[in-house]
Amino acid sequence: MKIQILSAEMASRIAAGEVVERPASAVKELMENSLDAGATEISVWVEKSGTALIRVTDNGDGMTVEDLSLAVERHSTSKIRTEEDLFRIATLGFRGEALPSIASVSKTEIISRPKDAECGYRLRVEAGIKGAPQITACSPGTTVDIRELFYNIPARRKFLKAPATELSHICDVFNRMALAHPSLHFRLYHDGRTVADYVAVSDARDRLHQVLGRDTAKNLIPFSFHESEVSLSGFLSVAPISFPNARYLFTFVNHRYVRDKIITHAILHGYETLLMKGQYPAAALFLGIPYREVDVNVHPAKYEVRFRRQSEVHEAVVKAIRGALKLEAKEPLSRIELRPIPRFDGVMESHFPYTLSSVDRSHEASVTREPFTILQPADGPPGGFFSSMNILDQILGCYLICASSRGLVIIDQHAAHERVAFEKLRRQMEEGEVQQQNLLIPQTVELSPGELTLLEQKVSALQQLGFTLEPFGAKTYAITAVPALLPEGDYSQVVRQIVAELAEVDKSEKLRQHLEERLATIACHSVIRANRQLEMSEMRALLKELDQIDFATQCPHGRPVLLEFSRDDLDRMFKRLA
Ligand SMILES: Nc1ncnc2c1ncn2[C@@H]1O[C@H](COP(=O)(O)OP(=O)(O)OP(=O)(O)O)[C@@H](O)[C@H]1O
Ligand SMILES: [Mg+2]
Repeated sequence: MKIQILSAEMASRIAAGEVVERPASAVKELMENSLDAGATEISVWVEKSGTALIRVTDNGDGMTVEDLSLAVERHSTSKIRTEEDLFRIATLGFRGEALPSIASVSKTEIISRPKDAECGYRLRVEAGIKGAPQITACSPGTTVDIRELFYNIPARRKFLKAPATELSHICDVFNRMALAHPSLHFRLYHDGRTVADYVAVSDARDRLHQVLGRDTAKNLIPFSFHESEVSLSGFLSVAPISFPNARYLFTFVNHRYVRDKIITHAILHGYETLLMKGQYPAAALFLGIPYREVDVNVHPAKYEVRFRRQSEVHEAVVKAIRGALKLEAKEPLSRIELRPIPRFDGVMESHFPYTLSSVDRSHEASVTREPFTILQPADGPPGGFFSSMNILDQILGCYLICASSRGLVIIDQHAAHERVAFEKLRRQMEEGEVQQQNLLIPQTVELSPGELTLLEQKVSALQQLGFTLEPFGAKTYAITAVPALLPEGDYSQVVRQIVAELAEVDKSEKLRQHLEERLATIACHSVIRANRQLEMSEMRALLKELDQIDFATQCPHGRPVLLEFSRDDLDRMFKRLA
């Protein structure tokens, strides 16, 4: 016989491998159990980055001695009973696997006492072997001690990263949990030192401050959005703030932290032309959706979910983000500082330990905004921010120097033109067609065989973008019409570029989005590259146009259209302010 049934011990170690990859996974499972037990205070102690000890204490429902014994058995859970339950999961846990898995690869001790019981019980499990429960004095709730994680699987211990890395994973897990539950009190200690102490707060914004630190959090704007059964809320960074990776993207579905491709894609799509290539925003996004609409049983560590109607979710997220950013990108925010924000390393002292009420927050009042759903967009200067400025001069053939009511503003004339052209094209495409100009003398493009086949497939996409092309001989196409916005010139370049850019697109569902991205290429070609002296009337017209479009503060490639220096900025630069 080649096939053998594995021993129970081997089977449980293999199962444990999926659930407990590193100390942070154990922290996550234990904290989830505490949350499911209705705890309002959760403390996490770790020693040696979780390899020596992980202890999670909560003041939740606790367990009776009978339940305690069952809790460490495989497939034992209080959270689901029937098959239907599996498709309406409201708890973080549901598989009945976490405790037995952890207990099979560590020395585990659980002490638990239900609220109405007089005393509690202690249960030890070592490498999956369960001892007898012992009566013990303790306060209501549960404490789980995990000592020497992976002591019986040396091979797995070798896969652990440097202690600082493992600790930062634990901090990440802890912070995400805390972000999702602002009304609960969370504490984290490492080797006897307090790492974080987040007192319960009533406002999600306060929790954001505790977790990310004031400097980062103050640059995020709140938003909220509802559509049919999907509700969205959270905080978003606004341009020019961005990061080289997705480290500051926190996405939650029904209070569960997830890394979901659909949601991440939708967020980035929502930001679209506001970010430079390869840059990510900072965002905390809370998605609420009926339990029956989402399957949480698709990933061993429960980090992924599947939506029944994923395109609806995608669309709602894009709408929510665009809507919120649209209002913000009308003019630069005075509170956005030009200094880079400090790096968040995960490990951070609490910003208001125990003293939240005494912190003076009066100076923040002026910059706090309501979610965009109730924001009054009409409170800016009449005519808009850009038109209200006094144009002083154009310098170096490409920058406009202006005085705003708040200070000095420098505008990159190319970036501004590009954004204006892009928004015009986008509007035209949304309305059904891009305005064209017919060429009196058609221009020809000669193509390589590879380019030729590509172009043949993309003729109709090019038409949607405003380019009309007709075959003209064996290797040549004639351009007979181009978008009206393009200035006179050689159009073969831009056609070639767009064909190359469209090469990877074959799924028609995505075509619309890709076409929109190509509009940025056309917008870019529509701007006269050479530095050119602008008449005062041209500069005024440009500013007026900026007021009339969305996302005026960034060019379609995410570069800033303007830099603003407030009095504070100037005073600081001239060393008048400390
Ligand atoms: N901190 C706790 N307070 C109260 N009960 C707990 C606690 N931790 C675990 N339990 C009980 O033990 C059971 C088993 O926990 P375990 O984490 O192994 O499984 P689960 O949470 O049901 O599912 P999952 O494997 O998805 O986490 C839980 O269903 C719960 O009833
Ligand atoms: Mg659990």
